Amino acid sequence: MGLLDVLRFGFVDVSGTAATVTFLLILLILLYWYSTSAFSKLQKVGICHPPPLPFIGNLLFFREGFWENHNKLINEYGPACGYYIGRRAFMVVSDPDMIKYILVEDFGNFTNRMVPAVTSKPLADSILILRDERWKEVRSLLTPAFSAAKMKEMTPLINQACDILLSHLKDCADSSASFDIQRNYASFTLDVVASVAYGIHVDSQKKSRENFVKNSRRFFELSLFKPLLILTIAFPFIMIPLIRIFPNKKQKEVNGFFISAIKNMIALRDQQDANERRRDFLQLMLDARHLANDISMEHFDTFSQGLEESKAAANKGLLKKQPRTLSDDEIAGQAFLFLIAGYETTNSTLSFATYLLATNPECQQKLLCEVDKFFAKHVSRHHA
Ligand code: HEM
Repeated sequence: MGLLDVLRFGFVDVSGTAATVTFLLILLILLYWYSTSAFSKLQKVGICHPPPLPFIGNLLFFREGFWENHNKLINEYGPACGYYIGRRAFMVVSDPDMIKYILVEDFGNFTNRMVPAVTSKPLADSILILRDERWKEVRSLLTPAFSAAKMKEMTPLINQACDILLSHLKDCADSSASFDIQRNYASFTLDVVASVAYGIHVDSQKKSRENFVKNSRRFFELSLFKPLLILTIAFPFIMIPLIRIFPNKKQKEVNGFFISAIKNMIALRDQQDANERRRDFLQLMLDARHLANDISMEHFDTFSQGLEESKAAANKGLLKKQPRTLSDDEIAGQAFLFLIAGYETTNSTLSFATYLLATNPECQQKLLCEVDKFFAKHVSRHHA
């Protein structure tokens, strides 16, 4: 091999390595740029936040939970501050006046929740996900179901679940062994939702294999495998289409169960005589299908005062725009949302309240006196 050949060979070799190194360098620079490119949004509008890490933002700031770390954030960065989870910016507002502006006075500028990356039915039809006018319409159909009078109609159903809870708690007390009260509350909360939103009577503590209980537990167990979650946070543009393409079999089954449970119950209710039907959330939603024709959007959120008022409004010619009624899919969506929204929240509230009462006996005593006083007054009036 002549000198020229050696040089040519060497040159090709060197330039090949250089090209690879250059390519890798460009890739690294682009990756770094991508990993931090989303982190200027908050600063641009003058919102302070902890320094974000490439790809994951401030995810690690919350590794020990949200409550205390939100407080830490507010103390360090002020009453209106922010953070990034992955590439998504969040703003925290803790000033009561500002919250009032956002939720009441300027609400028109703050409608809609963030768009979730992946949603499927039944949740996709719930007011958690619905947007703009449709959210407003469905919300106005649901609001009356939460009025004091309607809640009172549901009290016997809630009391039934309370009785079951008390009988289980008595068993625990009689055994004198320590127990995890959060489990009892989890069953109680599930029993209430099953009863008032699905029309299903269950004692989930005893019959944990019943379909409703089994599927609810499966739903709350569903979580993304951790490394997959981090990848989704860091590379949403690749991971989200992939998650959409590859369906999650378990999730599909759970969703399918809740949709068919509600649809079967709707069919059953529609066959029943009006006075045979249970008075629960499900029935109120079903009634709203017919009521909707009588309700004015001008009376958004106030029509809980009843049909009479809306009829009066009709007489005054206020009924201009009529909301569409709830479809069966949307009823399934709201019932499912009640399960998600009411389960963990109520369970935690009851558990923490019990913990605080147990660790503050003087408050427990005060509460007991108030309950006794209430019963003495109301039960004696009832028997009079
Ligand atoms: C202590 C218990 C509860 C707490 C702390 C709580 C808290 C909240 C919060 C903070 C929101 C607003 C979420 C957001 O804007 O993204 C919300 C919305 C909601 N909650 Fe609750 N909740 C509780 C119990 C319940 C129960 C028992 C139900 C159902 C029966 C329920 C149904 C809903 C619904 C339907 C929404 C959405 C409202 C809308 O879009 O207009 N919640 N809840």
